[in-house]
Amino acid sequence: MATRIAARHSGILRNALCRPGPIARSMSTAPPPPGPPKTLPSFSMQGKVCMVTGAARGLGYEFCRAFVSSGCTSLAILDLKEDEANAAATELLTFARATNSNVDPSSVKIIGVECDVSSERSVQKAYEDVMSAYGRVDSVVASAGIVENYSAFDYPFDRIKRLYDINVHGAFFTAREAARNMIPQGGGSIVLVSSMSANIVNIPQPQTPYNASKAAVKHMAASLAVEWAKKGVRVNVLSPGYMLTKLTKTILAHDTELRTTWERLTPMGKMGEPEDLAGAIVFLSSDASSFMTGSEIRVDGGYCII
Ligand SMILES: NC(=O)c1ccc[n+]([C@@H]2O[C@H](COP(=O)([O-])OP(=O)(O)OC[C@H]3O[C@@H](n4cnc5c(N)ncnc54)[C@H](O)[C@@H]3O)[C@@H](O)[C@H]2O)c1
Repeated sequence: MATRIAARHSGILRNALCRPGPIARSMSTAPPPPGPPKTLPSFSMQGKVCMVTGAARGLGYEFCRAFVSSGCTSLAILDLKEDEANAAATELLTFARATNSNVDPSSVKIIGVECDVSSERSVQKAYEDVMSAYGRVDSVVASAGIVENYSAFDYPFDRIKRLYDINVHGAFFTAREAARNMIPQGGGSIVLVSSMSANIVNIPQPQTPYNASKAAVKHMAASLAVEWAKKGVRVNVLSPGYMLTKLTKTILAHDTELRTTWERLTPMGKMGEPEDLAGAIVFLSSDASSFMTGSEIRVDGGYCII
């Protein structure tokens, strides 16, 4: 009896496994619908004017690619050197025209703007240029930043000051100027790029001022978020873990063992690629995160959880 029941059940199971139900059938046979994959419209950057500091290379450049891939056709790339900002703009223009093939190529506008974020006047001047080019700015990302590895006793003060001028004051000038322009237009989104170093102490390399600067950026975002919450300006933080860019490659060039150490300390066992941040930056910068302000998204392969 028991054997018969088992045999019957195994028959049912075999039938269930062999005969595809409606879901299995549609998964195995239905061709994908034509056109781009369907996604939530609120994630679209279509019609938004975006501006990214430190965007001639590295993560900033990747944020621009993510915006373009999500439909942005009006973009400003800010960086220290005008020729590098312009070169990145030219490259992205080609990418944008190829990616957004459904839009009129002449409507795609990407400009490079020289800007030293550590100078308030330079940031104001860059905004003037961007406003005269586009008339508005909807999404701003403050990505410009530097890192240096000195022990606390060895770090020359002029270099510490320069690091804070770029990482902390640069983020503040960028956010303040963004909000000045966004509030009269009804709002916008600001993302400050902090780091997992705002939450943990990196080892083995010493970098106390950098870690403190990124913790400052994180709390700056929360504080500005409160100041501007009712004015329609959202301020959030994106905190990457170890990502492969010039910033980290420069450090790794001096120490071949270091990458293995970083990867061992990361639960996912690897460094991130810049494009691993694409989803998070689009989420924070788009209407998909419209009820989110003063928050941090960590994208670090799990580094901070252990
Ligand atoms: N790469 C990582 O692993 C990592 C991890 C966590 C956080 N971050 C943060 O992400 C941001 C971008 O880092 P990245 O890896 O792309 O670095 P990167 O060195 O590759 O690029 C930084 C860009 O910022 C520009 N820049 C530097 N000083 C500037 C200034 N005063 N004004 C305007 N532009 C300036 C540089 O010219 C460069 O184009 C930084 O704030 C960094 O602290 C990076």
